[in-house]
Amino acid sequence: MKILLATQKPFAAAAVNGIRSILEEAGNEVVLLEKYAGEDELVAAVSDVEAMIIRSDKVTARVLDAAPKLKIVVRAGAGFDNVDLAAATAHGVVVENTPGQNSNAVAELAIAMMIYMSRNQFTPATGTEILGKTVGIQAFGNVGRLVGQKAAALGMKVKAVDPFIPAEKIAEAGAEPVADVAALYSSSDFVSVHIPALPSTIGSIGYDLITSMPKGAVLVNTARKEVIDEAGLERALEDRPDLKYVADVMPDNYEALREKFGVRIFATPKKMGAQTSEANVNAGLAAARQIVAYFTEGCTRFQVNK
Ligand code: 3PG
Repeated sequence: MKILLATQKPFAAAAVNGIRSILEEAGNEVVLLEKYAGEDELVAAVSDVEAMIIRSDKVTARVLDAAPKLKIVVRAGAGFDNVDLAAATAHGVVVENTPGQNSNAVAELAIAMMIYMSRNQFTPATGTEILGKTVGIQAFGNVGRLVGQKAAALGMKVKAVDPFIPAEKIAEAGAEPVADVAALYSSSDFVSVHIPALPSTIGSIGYDLITSMPKGAVLVNTARKEVIDEAGLERALEDRPDLKYVADVMPDNYEALREKFGVRIFATPKKMGAQTSEANVNAGLAAARQIVAYFTEGCTRFQVNK
């Protein structure tokens, strides 16, 4: 079986080698497409493959149309908003993710970003400490939980809200459940965003929520750029010179925002939350094992387009 590992943002070598070993030992041929320029290259590479492992690589209807033998796409990571699920289903292609495998890396970055912004991006201006401050976790899944644990270990108070997790489960995991998102924002010195990009969440964090945050608050977005209403964010930062925004996903008008708000705003040039060797190995090897399990046992445990 021919299996494509398509990563515009390449995995660490240890992950690529591990993926190869798992797939080749199971009798497959692995083709590697890294740092490719655009969709045309991906379209050309999928013409004869039966499975694909991807990261944030966009699997569009055009890519799926060009892959007549494709049976399964595994997104080595959590978010699958980069895959056209309806088109995949229409083509009879199983789409899976590898939930939890890269969560620690993202959670560590969220904590690092809180400290970075509290210390004014390591400029000499007097900063603040995170000890004793409240962090509000927006969505208490794999990453949110880990951010909560790490924040608590650093002496922060942890609150959380999640539409799919009952309050008692949040409390059992050591965070204070709050009634709703509005209550989270208005009572948190830091809000760490971990919601997926869905039609219902896109643009859902805007002026009203951001300006409801307490004085000196920091909004930390290691989730998806799309969940932020960027015009609302800009207005909020204008009206509230005490607020800060940090993101692992560059806003559209980042250069202009950076000029306007200086050290009150920071965004990584490329999404790097999961860009650690450990996360690459965990997610990459899990993806390879899931492909083998699919072809040998018909296992679809992690399918997201059921
Ligand atoms: C995820 O959804 O798993 C993260 O955003 C990581 O994405 P990446 O594999 O493109 O770094």
